[in-house]
Amino acid sequence: MTKAKATDFDWPNIGFNYHDLPYSFHAEFKDGHWDEGHLTEDSTITMSEAANVLHYGQEAFEGLKAYRRKDGGVNLFRPDMNAKRMHKSAERLLMEPFPEDRFVQAVKEVVKANQDFVPPYGSGATLYVRPFLIGTGEVIGVHPANQFQFHILVTPVGPYYKGGMQPTAYVTSPYDRAAHGGTGQSKVSGNYASSLLPGSIAHEEGFSDVVYLDPRLHENIEELGGANFFGITKDGKFKTPKSPSILPSITKKSLLKLASDFGMEPEETTISIYDLDQFSEAGAMGTAAVISPVGSITHNGNKHVFYSETKVGPYTQKLYDRLSGIQDGDIKGPDGWQVDV
Ligand code: PLP
Ligand code: COI
Repeated sequence: MTKAKATDFDWPNIGFNYHDLPYSFHAEFKDGHWDEGHLTEDSTITMSEAANVLHYGQEAFEGLKAYRRKDGGVNLFRPDMNAKRMHKSAERLLMEPFPEDRFVQAVKEVVKANQDFVPPYGSGATLYVRPFLIGTGEVIGVHPANQFQFHILVTPVGPYYKGGMQPTAYVTSPYDRAAHGGTGQSKVSGNYASSLLPGSIAHEEGFSDVVYLDPRLHENIEELGGANFFGITKDGKFKTPKSPSILPSITKKSLLKLASDFGMEPEETTISIYDLDQFSEAGAMGTAAVISPVGSITHNGNKHVFYSETKVGPYTQKLYDRLSGIQDGDIKGPDGWQVDV
């Protein structure tokens, strides 16, 4: 594979794609312990044909970003939360978690090694960090692996949803992403494999992503394929779905805290697809999505428009400015949210 060079990139227009950067991080769990781990220039992975991940899907991953500050330094946003969530995902799939403190250290190390690829301040691009854990021990019966690999790849990215801060259209699907007793709360590859077909149908029909409904009644909003959902009610509440089968988003947890700064009451609650009139604005929130306005949701052929299909609502804009101001290091965030690399 050809390694990317920093001069290859037109930072404001890079899209959300993989580029092979100079360094990745790699650690192995064998004989009951994790090795020291190291930076490597090898962006390929070698494993047995009987590795658990290839057959029974022992894989958990994370997504966070490194942000270039105005002073030239680099910040991470709440990386300890990613470490914790990966620990939980690993436990759900009976995988050996990579120690949380070493997770944050390794993220810093690999970002530092690729620092020329952290896009410039103000370019709208960031360095996306993708830690992942795979079961590499050999199995043929359905059993957990006893060997694991932990990797971190990094790649520069622009907006996940095409419009960025332009509102886009979303659609519900007859497919489910995850079951209530399943793995929806874990960031594991199987959830995303099952979302590929509904996601691809939605894209072919011109929508940005799927709005999944709850797997029992198909009535309440769960989340989007790659982000949590929020709505701002006409009486000023910041509402986001509560469900046992959605990913506990770190961006969501952060916005639940920030909403009250703008006089919005935060609430995690059931949100019926038939009760969208309560909202004046709606959006997607996540590391990749940041905050992306949801212009409309189409359900059973009926399109519901929120604030506007072309303009960003005032509360969505305020939340975006505050969140991205903290992530870029322009605004001081709550303790521990901004971690210098
Ligand atoms: N929901 C799904 C399905 C996701 O893939 C993501 C992305 O990580 C999120 C929500 C948002 O989570 P976070 O804010 O922690 O990135
Ligand atoms: C993230 O926001 O980090 C994610 O993992 C979402 C993914 C669909 C790109």
